[in-house]
Amino acid sequence: MPILYYEQQKIFKLDTPHTTYAIQVTKYDFISHLYYGKTIQDLDLSYLNEPFCWDLGNAPVENREMPVSLDRLPLEYPCSGISDFREPALQILDDNGQCVCDIRYTGHRIYPGKPGITGMPATFAGTADATTLEIDGIDPVLNLKVTLIYTVFEKLDAITRSVRMTNQSEKNIRLQRALSLCLDLPHEKMDMIHLSGTWSRERAVQRHPLHSGKQAVDSLRGASSHQQNPFIALAAPHADEDQGEVYGCSFVYSGSFYAEAEVDQFRKTRLVMGIHPHDFSWLLAPAQTFETPEAVLVYSDAGLGKMSRTFHDLYRGHLIRSPYKDIKRPVLVNNWEATYFQFDTEKILSIARDAAELGMDMFVLDDGWFGHRDSDNSSLGDWFVYEQKLPGGLKHLVDTINQMGLKFGLWFEPEMISPDSDLYRAHPDWCIHVQNRTRSLSRTQLVLDMSRPDVRAYLFERISAILSSANIEYVKWDMNRTICEPGSAYLPAERQGELKHRYILGVYALMEQVLQAFPKLLLENCAGGGGRFDPGMLYYSPQIWTSDNTDAIDRLRIQHGTSYVYPVSAISAHVSACPNHQTARTVSLKTRAQVALCGTFGYELDLNQLSQEEKEEIKEQIREYHQYNDLIRSSDYYRLGDPFHEEHWDAWQFVSKDQSETLFQYIQVRAETNAPVRRIRLKGLNPALRYTDSATGKTYYGSTLMHAGIVIPGLWGDYAPYRLHLQSVPPTDPASCQTK
Ligand code: GLA
Repeated sequence: MPILYYEQQKIFKLDTPHTTYAIQVTKYDFISHLYYGKTIQDLDLSYLNEPFCWDLGNAPVENREMPVSLDRLPLEYPCSGISDFREPALQILDDNGQCVCDIRYTGHRIYPGKPGITGMPATFAGTADATTLEIDGIDPVLNLKVTLIYTVFEKLDAITRSVRMTNQSEKNIRLQRALSLCLDLPHEKMDMIHLSGTWSRERAVQRHPLHSGKQAVDSLRGASSHQQNPFIALAAPHADEDQGEVYGCSFVYSGSFYAEAEVDQFRKTRLVMGIHPHDFSWLLAPAQTFETPEAVLVYSDAGLGKMSRTFHDLYRGHLIRSPYKDIKRPVLVNNWEATYFQFDTEKILSIARDAAELGMDMFVLDDGWFGHRDSDNSSLGDWFVYEQKLPGGLKHLVDTINQMGLKFGLWFEPEMISPDSDLYRAHPDWCIHVQNRTRSLSRTQLVLDMSRPDVRAYLFERISAILSSANIEYVKWDMNRTICEPGSAYLPAERQGELKHRYILGVYALMEQVLQAFPKLLLENCAGGGGRFDPGMLYYSPQIWTSDNTDAIDRLRIQHGTSYVYPVSAISAHVSACPNHQTARTVSLKTRAQVALCGTFGYELDLNQLSQEEKEEIKEQIREYHQYNDLIRSSDYYRLGDPFHEEHWDAWQFVSKDQSETLFQYIQVRAETNAPVRRIRLKGLNPALRYTDSATGKTYYGSTLMHAGIVIPGLWGDYAPYRLHLQSVPPTDPASCQTK
């Protein structure tokens, strides 16, 4: 049983295959944290709670007999206004305008399986895959019931957490913050790792030692953001890809978030994560319940690589629901960088004709097919086909493309409205705005108030009408600006603080409705590139456009950082034109394809401009995609290089779950004259198995490949690629006993 309760000590022990998480209900019924880390056997861990406290006026206690100050006690869900002065997870305002909240244990349940969260994405599991603990607590003065929910996965070192709270009183309670997780760790000697960036430079790995006080990453933009990803890891200072303790924490949410590590006066570290409190206030009326989004904890005793692989397995197996999750995605060509807004039916068909000839599977029509949209100045919200641009409409276009043997996909940006649109002229109140204040434009657009049922009903009607009008099998769901001047003409004054959370709940509700109506649809999320690349979105779409930066060399960093949390099967990557449209860099077609192969594969360039030689190369790339994608999509991923610290090369490796096959990929980022011979140790292989190099037929033991390594052959020029594909020799094959 992965979760046990020891009645006498009042200790909960949550075990995953290699970790233990322990909670104790203390004297006076505080729900206290005892331990999280590598598996331990002892049951009675009460000794871990500190035995004494110097009560010198700065650490109040409830009474003289109380063994420890709350300011020292590790707590599972600390509240505002009590004598724990660290960052609270729950902050309220009662109807007297006071903030004190004090939750004490009242009971618990342990059951197989995992509950969902109403209206929100969450990891899922069957009764055989997971066990859940719900700990109930109450503030008896407020009559606020709080339930802490922990799910332990049978086969993964991951624990999910969320919180449900119910107002059992007769009066309103205002939630000022309701975070999803608090984790009190017993020491401070850790590095904080997070993924920061901006548009076209998403998810750069940042690492710095924790210091006394608070250090945070967050988004106030109404989306998880380009700037900070909802992920934080605390790692031992010596931890690297392969060794050292790492606590990874990822947030299954797509709106504004907050993640903070606080080193306190006793040199302990509190980690909290949840909806950004600055953006949030929720009126909990009598009998109402509020549920927080889910936070995921992953512990690794073997560095960042193992942490990432656990996140990948969890998200591939227990978060992504799409029917496409375990199958090869269509190789697509997207016309955005090929034409931008300047296209007509003939141009689209001529690209599609080339795509079909080259062996691609799908054509995706990007922005510019609706309203009267010839630039980004108009028409968002007017989801009607731009007939002058596409005579005969979508049906004619899609049928013709289908006849070529290609599927068809379409771009939408449902959450937005252009001031120059019929929708805005009819419903100027439907956008997020504050009366008598500027409605700030970004990309000449405003954000629709997704908390409004009428807005969602309009969007569903329009999206389903378009999707039903032709055989559209894929949607790229874009979102190109963040929210400012948050105000809703729909919500009453006392609920305006709920807007940003209700906005994202509205987005989730609409996506769910679209997917229920079109269950076979392949949905790809996008937000000005990778501005909403988060676990919440993976619940709806198995893949997310990673960045508007399609430069293969910049993508090394972007995809490296993204892989900290997200599986390669979700990382959308395309081969684009050269010189690259974002960086003007020239990179060979071969290298561009090698980098794009490490994601969902596609093309984003004008195929009509290609030479015959390039077309032949692309046919070969598509053949390689079909050869390797099953491995790439489902394997264990190993980062071998570090493009943030090594300027000369980057490399990574896919290893099949049964260790019978591996694909190693290498890019010589910057050539050196008289360069050293580079030897790289492979990872994750079976040391006792023999592996054959598919290109040369040479055979090596896994131990040789992992300890002595492989030698990178001399490569010519910047950005030169190299690849090695190895397959284990079947043990029954007598030739396996000899090196060729
Ligand atoms: C965003 C997306 C791009 C493209 C444009 C269209 O920037 O990230 O891929 O779809 O919008 O306007």
